[in-house]
Parts: sequence; C-alpha cells; structure tokens
Amino acid sequence: MKREEKEKEKAATTAENIVDDAGLDEKIHGDFLISNKKIYLNNGSVGPVPISTVKAITDFYLRYSEHGPDSAESNEYLENLKRETRQRVADLINCDSDEIIFTSSTTEGINFVTQGISWNKDDKILLRDAKNEHFSNYLPWVKAANDNNLQIETFPFDNENLVIEDLTKLIGSSTDAPRVVTTSHVMYNNGSITPVETMGSIIKKKNKKILFSIDGAQSVGAIDVDVKKIKCDFLSFPAFKWVCGPLGIGVLYVNKKVMDNDFEPVFVGAGSAQIESNKVKGNNPTNTSNKTWETLKFYKYPQKYHSTFRNYPGLAGLESSIRYLLRIGIPNIYKKNKKLSTIFREEISKINEIVIHEASEEGMRSSMVSFSFKRNSNNRVRMLVEKLQEKGIILAEREIGLKKIVRASPHFYNTENEIIKTINEIKVITSKM
Ligand SMILES: Cc1ncc(COP(=O)(O)O)c(C=O)c1O
Repeated sequence: MKREEKEKEKAATTAENIVDDAGLDEKIHGDFLISNKKIYLNNGSVGPVPISTVKAITDFYLRYSEHGPDSAESNEYLENLKRETRQRVADLINCDSDEIIFTSSTTEGINFVTQGISWNKDDKILLRDAKNEHFSNYLPWVKAANDNNLQIETFPFDNENLVIEDLTKLIGSSTDAPRVVTTSHVMYNNGSITPVETMGSIIKKKNKKILFSIDGAQSVGAIDVDVKKIKCDFLSFPAFKWVCGPLGIGVLYVNKKVMDNDFEPVFVGAGSAQIESNKVKGNNPTNTSNKTWETLKFYKYPQKYHSTFRNYPGLAGLESSIRYLLRIGIPNIYKKNKKLSTIFREEISKINEIVIHEASEEGMRSSMVSFSFKRNSNNRVRMLVEKLQEKGIILAEREIGLKKIVRASPHFYNTENEIIKTINEIKVITSKM
C-alpha cells in the first residue's frame, strides 16, 4: 500500500478532523498527564509522553522481568520489538526499515554523520549560518572541518525566500559542488520551515553525489516528513520532542545507497562486526616486526552501525508513541497545531510592545511562535518566562543571535483554552513590566 493510502486509512480510523471533535480533543488532552497540572507549551524542547507510552515502557519491564534477562523468550521479544519499531519509524518518515539506525538523540545522529562520511581534503560543507542553525547541527560540522581540512561555507537565512536563490548560486558548477549540504528542517528559534523538498531537488539535479543532511529535531512528529520526497541522505531526530516518545532515544535515517558506499561506522563492537581472518600478517610495508593485524568484517547495515544497543525500553516507548501519532494522523496533528499557533500569533500580535519573529509566508511557518519586546527585550523575555512558569505555564527562552526570544511551541494535545489562558497571563504580566 502506498504511503498516502496508508495515511488516509489511518486518518479515517480516527476523527476526520480532531480540531472539530471536542470529545476526541479532550481525550487526547487527558492522555498527557502534564495537562492536569500545567499548560505545557514547550514541546520544541522536550515533548511529554502519552499515558499509553508510560504503560508500554512499564509493560516492557514487566514482561522482561518475568521472562528474565537473556532468556530465550526475552531475546525473541527484543528482536521482535526492534523489528516492529523499525517498521513504525519507516511508516513515519517513508523509508525502508533497514535504513534506520537507533541513536540516543539528534545530536548523536548528526555526529555519526559528520564522523562517518569518508571525507576528502578540501571537501566543502554548505551550512546554514550559526545565527539560525541550532548548535547541534553546527558544531559537529565545524569539528569535522577542523579535523579533516574541509571548507565550510554558510548560507544566511534572514529571508527564507532567498534560501533557494542563495543555494542555487552557492552550489555552483559541478566541479565546485559541495560534498554536503545541511540544514534544519524547522528552525529552532523562529520556527520557519525550510523548503527542503525544493532544496533536495536542486541539489540532486545538480549532482546526485552531493549528500543532503537534515536535522529533523523540530519537524518529525509535527509536520509530514517524507525522506523520499526530500531526497535527503541523512535525517536525524529525537523521540523526545514532537514524537512524544521517551528520553534517551533518537533515530538516524541513512539512505541505503549511502550506507553501502559513503558512510563508515564511528564505533565498532561485538554487535556490529567480527574478525574476518585470524591474525593475518599486516600489509604495512614498514612493519618489520612480527606484529600482526586482524581484519574486521562488518555486518550488513543497519547492524554495522549498532556496535551495541541496549535501550529496549526506549524502543518500546518510541514504538508506542509513533503508533499513537499515526492513529491520529500527521496531517491532523499539523492542522491542529496550526490552528493553535494561529490563535496564539493573532492574539500576541495585539500586544503593542511585542515583536513576532517568523517566516514572512504563512506556508513556511511551523507551529512554534517566537517573540521579543520592542524595548529592554532580553530582560523582559527572561522575566516573562519566569513569571509564566510561576503560574504553571511553560514556554521557553531561546535566542536569535544575541537577541533573546520567548518561544511557544504548542502540540496537538494542547487546547484552544490553554492558548487563551496563556495569552491572558502574558497580557497581565507584560502590562506590569
Ligand atoms: C534544530 C535542533 N537540532 C538539534 C537539537 C538537539 O536535539 P537533541 O537533544 O535530540 O540532541 C535541537 C534541540 O532543541 C534542535 O532544536
């Protein structure tokens, strides 16, 4: 079954439009225990897990404890769990299940990429500038450049309409083509959506060998992410933001053609390789001693990238959370999130003192809304976030360059009522600042 048909089928099994179904909306809200105590609008930092995921992790431990570690039953259970979770992730981002490497976070996945590419001296990395790009998708590339004598070129992103124009120029002629282009799918600070599908087409039209790496920390789980449409080679994301999964687990998608040819494992261990031949004589011509080397034979991907992996409770939680999201349907989640953020944006823009930071085109805005103040902004941002926290309303303080911003990141389980209450509190607090 094609992905669109699967999505339709999934969406049909739930309410046509969760926004208009008050009963379902309320049920979903109640599935997230934080909602009983706080108004949590900080899903771009860490998303809470639904109660079904709490149960899935508990069930994992009950079953595992009953059968005992390293028992035949447990081992079979773990293998099945790994297979099912792979399939679930594959459904979410439209890849094959053997194109998935389990990591601990977005950052770890990106480091696998920057350290796993077999670099040639002077390779060029094309990167969004440090003002907009999250450091997790910036510093690892800088390190790779320093370690391997590579060049870095950045493309600024103050005007999202220029991204494509800038990119087309920067990619240049095929002889001067970058080895890698990388960007976040959604900017962590102003919430703008990068036109990754257009970028992917431009990049691959120019030269199929240019690697395209996406930081999906702020997109997967909130908007439709289809690696085939994007034509990316790498996509890294965490379970614990918009996917509403457990802490300590993430996913790195790697296109299997790249796994075969262009991507080395950073770690090696009993899970990923074996000795190919016992104590063969090394082929180092300067070696005059009797030293010998053993040669390694890596297992087939994705196993060759899993030197060891023990976060099975994390897999149980991730599998459960993705199932939860897919039951609702990513298009429905996107629609609900847009509705919440539109209300937030419209209401906040009525406050005189506030400046919103966002993409100029509506279609390039995610559900995150960021703002600062016209005067004495950095102090007021900090004060507002603190005062809201005292009231049980959780937003985040972030930055665009040196400018501090307040970031609200509602997700599908939040309600319109929570948005209105938050806005009202912001009005009261800012009027006293
Ligand atoms: C765009 C972006 N990339 C990477 C990260 C780091 O994610 P992780 O904690 O999964 O490593 C974040 C965290 O907020 C982010 O917003």
